[in-house]
Amino acid sequence: MKSIEGRVAIVTGAARGIGLATAKKLSDAGARVVINDLDEAEAISAGEQIKGAEVFCADLTERDSGDRLVDFAVDRLGGIDILVNNAGYIWHSAIHNMTDDQWDAMLDIHVSAQFRILRAYGKWLRANADRNSHFRKVVNISSTMGLHGGATQLAYSAGKAAVVGLTKTLAKEWGRFNVTVNAVAFGAIETRLTSPYETEPNIAIVKGEERKVGLSLQQIEENKNASPLGKIGSPEDAANAIYLMCIPESDWITGEVLLASGGVRS
Ligand SMILES: NC(=O)c1ccc[n+]([C@@H]2O[C@H](COP(=O)([O-])OP(=O)(O)OC[C@H]3O[C@@H](n4cnc5c(N)ncnc54)[C@H](O)[C@@H]3O)[C@@H](O)[C@H]2O)c1
Repeated sequence: MKSIEGRVAIVTGAARGIGLATAKKLSDAGARVVINDLDEAEAISAGEQIKGAEVFCADLTERDSGDRLVDFAVDRLGGIDILVNNAGYIWHSAIHNMTDDQWDAMLDIHVSAQFRILRAYGKWLRANADRNSHFRKVVNISSTMGLHGGATQLAYSAGKAAVVGLTKTLAKEWGRFNVTVNAVAFGAIETRLTSPYETEPNIAIVKGEERKVGLSLQQIEENKNASPLGKIGSPEDAANAIYLMCIPESDWITGEVLLASGGVRS
């Protein structure tokens, strides 16, 4: 097995959940990792769990965050070989209750933030591309909601569908720079977004605001039953799927959406 020893990886939204598991996985495989998150204390704590990790705390919906993140990684670790665009959260409503703020917030974090990071990375790539070097890897995180839709998840689903468009376009633009660009679309993974509740949704604080998160016990059972594997994925299952798109063995795969859903196809 070839390795990613010494490669520099950025993982956004890496203070917890899928991002944290991915940062650990890439680090265990030899990568030097930059962790980003909005939540400073959790990001610092995550950084302490990962040998040599550099921590960049920032809200990626701030317009200059993408440029600052790329500059930080280049400055601290000398380049960027792997970029995992993972940061995100949920703010759901049926369409008749969905506010403009809600719509804008979902598109902002799931599409515009990815766009600004990718634009900053693209500028760096143009100056630093080397066709004789190893392939670099971009992995953008989408969702089954972006592929199949999900009731009450209009803005989130639209954002996650847009991730597919970003991915397929940049795969075409960046192939000549030896960069593969793929998306991983997850089904239900056990994180705070899907934390179980009995009657009322759980609350996550995102940017100081309360957001309803979680799956009811009934939804969790339905999700398990929908999977031929009979379970919801763990953050480590999710990280493993991302890892596949980061290793040299996936160098011939670009512009794809890897469905990592335990076989759930709707
Ligand atoms: N958990 C699932 O079932 C599931 C399914 C499909 C897709 N996803 C996607 O996977 C990604 C990770 O989600 P998770 O389940 O690990 O959730 P999580 O809440 O455990 O972790 C997401 C992290 O992103 C960070 N974040 C949110 N907004 C940010 C911002 N503006 N700037 C910087 N960091 C920000 C949060 O602080 C948090 O630490 C998200 O894009 C999510 O939409 C999750």
